[in-house]
Amino acid sequence: MSSTASAPGKAILFGEHAVVYERPAVAVPIFQVQARATVAPAEPRSGILLIAEDLGRTCALADAPPDDPFRTIVADTLAYLEVNGAPDLRISITSTIPIARGMGSGTATSAAVVRALASYFGAELSDQMVSELVFEVEKIHHGTPSGIDNTVVSYGKPIYFVKGLPFEIITVGKGFHLLIADTGVPSPTRIAVSAVREGWKANPEAYGRLFDEIGEIARLARGAIASGDVGEIGRLMNENQRLLRAIDVSSPELERLIDAALAGGATGAKLSGAGRGGNMIALVDPQTAPCVEKAVVEAGARGVFTTEIN
Ligand code: PMV
Repeated sequence: MSSTASAPGKAILFGEHAVVYERPAVAVPIFQVQARATVAPAEPRSGILLIAEDLGRTCALADAPPDDPFRTIVADTLAYLEVNGAPDLRISITSTIPIARGMGSGTATSAAVVRALASYFGAELSDQMVSELVFEVEKIHHGTPSGIDNTVVSYGKPIYFVKGLPFEIITVGKGFHLLIADTGVPSPTRIAVSAVREGWKANPEAYGRLFDEIGEIARLARGAIASGDVGEIGRLMNENQRLLRAIDVSSPELERLIDAALAGGATGAKLSGAGRGGNMIALVDPQTAPCVEKAVVEAGARGVFTTEIN
């Protein structure tokens, strides 16, 4: 008998980067894109086979390097589940989440693998346990992750997150629409995070003030989302983007999409995730969405979709 599980993508709405420095941030799951993992029995003595067609990767996990993210998540999960010996398994992974675009594709894949393995071995894992196991792999991907990605993907709810503190689930007062547009440029999380760290080391006071301002925006955004003040959400997105430019994580491609989205009628637009590439998110309504979509496609967006956050 095989077991399948899935996990959503995610978008950081407010507070990326500053969240690494203990300032608050807001993230939401994006269920329109998902990673899915299926665990099935394999031939005796075949060990664990990983089949990730989207990544063009099929391998025996035993042949992967010890710090390989898949090898790590599978080994950690089996250890947690107290599965002894060497099980013979086929783990197949598929995903519709764009890779390296700040949408949590690696995170969601890990979460789906954890859940599928738990279900295969008849165990119930809490969201918190899934999140903790996935966090170990985030360290391989990102170096010094804040923990926001594994939390939002594992719980599948909008969250207000401060590193090291219990997070809060945000109840959305009034649904709102986000248009997500891909620059087509990979977003190098580890590189962007370490560039911000260099900037902060060289200029701790100025960066500290910028992080404070970003954190304050995230705090206000939590209130605006909870109370359904959609106009305020857009204004805060624009403010957050101004500060993200100041810490040098925007890029010409992102700025082109942001300008196009605002000119097309979006009421707020910013990068999402590590930046320097990846996705732009814009606040739209069902009336403006087609116009904004046309504008960002003309400005070079590679993939565009609209999603409702509620
Ligand atoms: O993985 P990404 O590209 O969504 O970026 C993560 C967000 C950062 O704040 C830049 C890093 C972190 O660990 O929170």
